[in-house]
Amino acid sequence: MTAHYQVQGDIALITLDNPPVNGLGHSTRVGIADGMAKALADAAVQAIIITGAGKAFSGGADIREFGSSKAMMEPNLNSVILLLEKSTKPVIAAIHSVAMGGGLELALGCHYRIAAPGASIALPEVKLGLLPGAGGTQRLPRVLGVEAGLNMVVSGEAIKSEMLAMLPGQKLFDKLSKSAESLAEEALAFARSVAATRPLPLVRDLPCKHPLGDAYFQFARNMVGAMAKNYPAPLKCIEAVEAAATKKFEEGMATERQIFINLMMTSESRALRHLFLGERAASKIPDIDSSVQPREIKSVAIIGAGTMGGGIAMNFMNAGISVKMLEMKQEALDKGVATIRGNYEAQVKKGKLKQDKYEQRMALLSTTLSYDELSGTDMAIEAVFEEIGVKEKVFKELDRVMKPGAILTSNTSTLDVNKIAEFTQRPQDVVGLHFFSPANVMKLLEVVRGAKTAKDVMATSMAVAKKIRKTAVVSGVCDGFIGNRMIEQYGRQGGFLLDEGCTPQQVDKAMEKFGMAMGPFRMGDLAGNDIGWAIRKRRAVERATMKYSKTADLLCEKGRFGQKTGAGWYDYKPGKRDAIPNAEVVKMIEDYRAANGITPRKISDEEIVQRLVFALVNEAAHILEEGIANKASDIDIAYIFGYGFPPYRGGPMLYADEVGLFNVVQAMHRFAQNPLDDANFWKPAPLLARLAAEGKTFN
Ligand code: NAI
Repeated sequence: MTAHYQVQGDIALITLDNPPVNGLGHSTRVGIADGMAKALADAAVQAIIITGAGKAFSGGADIREFGSSKAMMEPNLNSVILLLEKSTKPVIAAIHSVAMGGGLELALGCHYRIAAPGASIALPEVKLGLLPGAGGTQRLPRVLGVEAGLNMVVSGEAIKSEMLAMLPGQKLFDKLSKSAESLAEEALAFARSVAATRPLPLVRDLPCKHPLGDAYFQFARNMVGAMAKNYPAPLKCIEAVEAAATKKFEEGMATERQIFINLMMTSESRALRHLFLGERAASKIPDIDSSVQPREIKSVAIIGAGTMGGGIAMNFMNAGISVKMLEMKQEALDKGVATIRGNYEAQVKKGKLKQDKYEQRMALLSTTLSYDELSGTDMAIEAVFEEIGVKEKVFKELDRVMKPGAILTSNTSTLDVNKIAEFTQRPQDVVGLHFFSPANVMKLLEVVRGAKTAKDVMATSMAVAKKIRKTAVVSGVCDGFIGNRMIEQYGRQGGFLLDEGCTPQQVDKAMEKFGMAMGPFRMGDLAGNDIGWAIRKRRAVERATMKYSKTADLLCEKGRFGQKTGAGWYDYKPGKRDAIPNAEVVKMIEDYRAANGITPRKISDEEIVQRLVFALVNEAAHILEEGIANKASDIDIAYIFGYGFPPYRGGPMLYADEVGLFNVVQAMHRFAQNPLDDANFWKPAPLLARLAAEGKTFN
């Protein structure tokens, strides 16, 4: 059992003990029910305290029970809460550290609540496309008032206990303890003080009303509806809280239950839950368990203070890790440092960073022109020009100066990490750390595992990613790794669509309507069209037999590299990011069609979306089968955190699962009939074909 029972004098103590956050899994719920039975049967017990061991009161549902029948197995959370409410002896929740979701709902079922200051209080279910399903939407507005309660249910954001305790008229906490340390003792004293009180107060009996009545809920719907466009849960949260304010308690509970069941079945909630679990799963590597100890990283060296080097440095400085940056020339160092300063100063100006924090961070940064000065650092991150000869020079120097056991990493986006590893005498210490631009902002980090990368180097890379607050996904070595290898096929389809009759805007609009943060052409303009152009030129030999639209090359020949040149697929006004359609580009595409004897046709948004997204899916299936990615959810995580794929669709793989792999394969067969497309590419990857034939899914 993961809850313990103990008696201290005349007070019974039920302590949730289900690490890491006392999730309310089945055995914890049984433990609470057992404890309650013992306490009620013991004539010496006058009151009962429920609290949590370790780092939390309770973080809510046990994610290990997610989606399994165990989550609802009796006693389910509602039944446990009912036991507390019906108790003939007072039940007091002693809250510290974290009370979230089901944990807060449990506390709201108690007669009294005493909280330590500094505890994070939240009902975060909306972030999984759900609402609290054990009375949270009915009880929280009763103790906080409709407005504050609704805000917490709809936003899912945590608020500190001491702030909530200051709300006028609040009944969430009967008492705030002096400190976290004194909570246990103060809870005992409080329990004794209410031991004889009858009748016992119940949250369900409190009134719940907003003075503006219906009008208030209409305002709330207008505001939330506009912001939550693709997410049904927030509006449904309002409906549930409105039920609390307008119906009898039991009817409100029934409304909450019905909405919960309906939301559980939405594709948006499935997607958000998939991401929640997928993000946790991404940090686990199949053949590396927790017995593999990561190496200690207290300082890093960064080679190259350009676009990426500077952004990467900021990640480490933000995490309190010291950084030594190396360049070939002092001017380059000065420029790199000035950019970092500029970024931080902008944050200070916006009030997002305190001046003293800014200074503390800058104090972690030092620069050098000499490799010898890097010898004391624990990890080197190379972010120099994307040329194998330059990388060779850098890695030979790093091999010479870095101490034994130091980890040598490359931020290369296209070069062979195995080859880079072989420039050193210690390929086991070499790993790819592929950051995304802007590196201080983008959440995704691809950790590229070389053929010889040591297990503890992988474990260290994952630990470092967590420390600098990146979402890491492991990729094997191949051209483009997971993300860019897939995006190449996506971009190639974008090119074919131009050839066949689309304008860049039409393609971008269709993809943005689907939910992508940016369509492929706006994305190209942001990243720089010249980058892809350089890669295509470098790979000219292997691409010679590959079919692709030449429009992107023509665009680059005109010097239209994107936002940085003020002109790409679109025009850009100085300092602005709005994409303005350009007639010359449209004419260029038309001329290209004419020169190739193509008669343009009208193409539907549906075809655009399917061709682009299924191109990602088919390439991803190859990537999975080759073992470049360990699992389908890693690919989804990479696309959501690195490529602007809409979270409410759960990533390309989950999207394909939802469409049905049979349907995906049928669409590919249709696309293969198109003489202007690449029939060879549309041959479904063997894994995809097999899963579709067996009626299975990727996830
Ligand atoms: P950049 O051109 O902005 O910066 C490169 C810096 O390296 C320059 O400041 C240069 O002076 C310095 N450098 C060149 N050779 C050097 C050497 N031998 N020793 C020390 N410093 C040297 O390039 P950027 O964009 O920062 O790219 C760096 C690396 O990151 C490349 O491998 C690139 O493929 C990769 N990358 C770039 C992304 C992007 O969106 N820009 C995204 C992900 C990876």
